Amino acid sequence: MKTPIPTPIIVSPIFPGKWPRKTAQLLVSAMSLVVFLFLDFLDIVLCVIYRFVDQFTEGNTTPSCYCHRNREEERRRTNYDREGEVSETLYGIGRRNVFREMGFSRKWNGLKENGGGGGMLRRRNRWSDCGCESCVSWMSSNGDYMRRLLHVVVKESSTATFGDDCRGDKPMENVIFLHGFISSSAFWTETVFPNLSEPTKRNYRFFTVDLLGFGRSPKPRDCLYTLRDHLEMIEKSVIHPFQLGSFHLVAHSMGCVIALALAAKYSKSVKSITLIAPPYFPSPENDASLTALRRLADRKLWPPLLFGSAVMSWYEHLGRCVCFLVCRNHRTWEWILKLLTRRRDLHFTVINMTRHTHHSAWHTMHNVICGGAKLMDKYLEALEDSKVNIHVIQGSQDQVVPLECSNNIKMKVPDAEVSIVENADHTNVILHREKDFTQDLEQIWASTADSRRGEQCFGQGQP
Ligand SMILES: *[C@@H]1O[C@H](CO)[C@@H](O)[C@H](O)[C@H]1NC(C)=O
Ligand SMILES: *[C@@H]1O[C@H](CO)[C@@H](O)[C@H](O)[C@H]1NC(C)=O
Repeated sequence: MKTPIPTPIIVSPIFPGKWPRKTAQLLVSAMSLVVFLFLDFLDIVLCVIYRFVDQFTEGNTTPSCYCHRNREEERRRTNYDREGEVSETLYGIGRRNVFREMGFSRKWNGLKENGGGGGMLRRRNRWSDCGCESCVSWMSSNGDYMRRLLHVVVKESSTATFGDDCRGDKPMENVIFLHGFISSSAFWTETVFPNLSEPTKRNYRFFTVDLLGFGRSPKPRDCLYTLRDHLEMIEKSVIHPFQLGSFHLVAHSMGCVIALALAAKYSKSVKSITLIAPPYFPSPENDASLTALRRLADRKLWPPLLFGSAVMSWYEHLGRCVCFLVCRNHRTWEWILKLLTRRRDLHFTVINMTRHTHHSAWHTMHNVICGGAKLMDKYLEALEDSKVNIHVIQGSQDQVVPLECSNNIKMKVPDAEVSIVENADHTNVILHREKDFTQDLEQIWASTADSRRGEQCFGQGQP
């Protein structure tokens, strides 16, 4: 085990060698100022365009964007945000835009003061979202789709007998896997599941889901994809129907926030929790959401991945354009990619990356990753109190979640086991080393079974 060191500041390679460092940095910041000022402007223009197109195609009179909505006012009016689950980073105050503050979009949109808000309770597929069969299959029966369940994949040995976990010599163990942002259950079924050893397959039952708004799971438009929504769907789709009295949790990236929330709620039932690249930034509660947004998607030009995250998380309308181009037209892109790579099957990460709507991804990014940030301390404390085994695994080259996050967990919960995998990045910590990774997991589950033996029946029957 190695103590992680904070990632060094990456200096732009655009200005190599001879440039004095100071000048280069000054130039980079000037350039980034200009670029982001332009993007601010572009987002406002798009706000106006979308408003007109939405009105034309859907008859919406109120814009669905957050440009001119007021969190406090909405909290008073609706009951949805009663516990502050909706992240302030969704609203204009959190994501500042010079032009919006100057009132440009309000003027051009012809909005009155305090206009906007609402308008989300539409049940149809959006014009800017894909309407292909696999994307809208969850919609086929009308009715209340929050009642619909997540797409669940269960892997269990055909020879095993199930029933009450607590009778018999050797209780069956359960493992729940949660994927990260814009991914799906395939992230586990294509990597860990084929590499499980025979004894593990016999003694464990594995569950993984497509999270709400991703993959084949429902992507309702009248949902704000808060941490609570995600939890409820996992409870309704996995924990309750399969009557899981105890389970291990494994989660990647954003899935870690959901896994921690789940583990804190079911702290007596959780046997171990393995977090792969968890985004955890300790900060005062009132500042946590914005800190998470800044640390994961800072408005910087370099590295390109950070620039991409910044555009997608800070600019609602630009993000919607990207989703419109990529997700709505995923079949065309897949056709082109197959043609170019001359392959019949594309890698599952490419296919699974486009199976979401802008509404589902945008809200999950803000309400789970940023909104959940302020709750992480509470969850970790709850787990520490219940002596749940926490394991953290992260690649030393992770460019999405800073390496310091693993260290932060160790500082918060000294008993947590942290392993840093050399030369692995955010996804390669699992992909391309599936066998090693799966063995690590098996070891974690086995060691937990020993240390908590005899306790496994206490956690049953929680709500
Ligand atoms: C482990 O999983 C990978 C990816 O699915 C697969 O290519 C590899 O063959 C598997 N290894 C074993 C030993 O099954
Ligand atoms: C994700 O990729 C896997 C493997 O290609 C595929 O089986 C699965 O259907 C994909 N999920 C979605 C929602 O397209």
